[in-house]
Amino acid sequence: MTDRTRPLATRGDSFGTPAAARVPLGDSQSAASQPETLGASTALVQVQGLSVSYGAIAALRGVSLTAAAGEAVAILGANGAGKTTLLRALSGQLAAKSGTVTLEGQPILGLRPAKIVQAGIAHVPEGRQIFGRLSVRDNLRLGAFLPSKGKLLAEDEERIYSLFPRLSERAEQIAGTMSGGEQQMLAIGRALLSRPKVLLLDEPSMGLAPIIVDQIFETLTRISREDQLTLVIVEQNARAALDLAERGYLLESGEITAEGNSATLSDSAIRAAYLGSTDPP
Ligand SMILES: Nc1ncnc2c1ncn2[C@@H]1O[C@H](COP(=O)(O)OP(=O)(O)O)[C@@H](O)[C@H]1O
Ligand SMILES: [Mg+2]
Repeated sequence: MTDRTRPLATRGDSFGTPAAARVPLGDSQSAASQPETLGASTALVQVQGLSVSYGAIAALRGVSLTAAAGEAVAILGANGAGKTTLLRALSGQLAAKSGTVTLEGQPILGLRPAKIVQAGIAHVPEGRQIFGRLSVRDNLRLGAFLPSKGKLLAEDEERIYSLFPRLSERAEQIAGTMSGGEQQMLAIGRALLSRPKVLLLDEPSMGLAPIIVDQIFETLTRISREDQLTLVIVEQNARAALDLAERGYLLESGEITAEGNSATLSDSAIRAAYLGSTDPP
């Protein structure tokens, strides 16, 4: 399944052949149980019955969701709902208690994180987690997923700099001295360099001014459209996430309690999901 040569840089091309087009996925397991799997499109990522516990504490209980190739899906939830746990389970950093996760129909749950990156899932972690003492360019290099070891492919680097011109201006700057928004751009750029089919984003808006959030989310929209990249974005910031995403799910205390198109996901459901915790901005 791994295709180490799939291109990131795009001259009228994309982040690789859209995965769903390359590997037709029968979706046979789920057709019956996922009535809203969008028309003719097929699930690129399918999560079913995912449960994760920390010792005796159940953090995720039977979470099911899908994302089609090129689709942006938001997962909204208050602090402590289980958003980070979900993304860490999808990227192999946490073991699941039960459930299945498939990418293009291939099970990935239980694979090591590096294998999951190779399969095509990249994770932009909560709090960015860039290397603060290294330059922007060196941070990007560390994210690169390389056919030839150690070298950042020039066209991959160019693509990141064209998406985020600020990073280009600051290629030699020590990453820890940049603003929060610039660090978030760097974290996203680094993840893109693994040439993913799916980008998992953990609260990319956290701590950023609304105008910066808008800029970053516009770029994410552009990447999703131009490159057929699938986005799974977890957010407390419901407004920003639903502006970006076509569909959303609400996660409450480890369970999906509502789902729908961004336009129709009801205000009351969103309010309910946040009740009793810090309001989203
Ligand atoms: N390492 C951990 N050990 C024990 N409990 C944890 C750990 N990480 C998270 N939790 C608990 O799991 C639940 C979900 O946390 P998390 O996934 O971080 O939520 P969110 O990202 O939505 O804020 C919370 O109740 C949290 O306290
Ligand atoms: Mg979190």
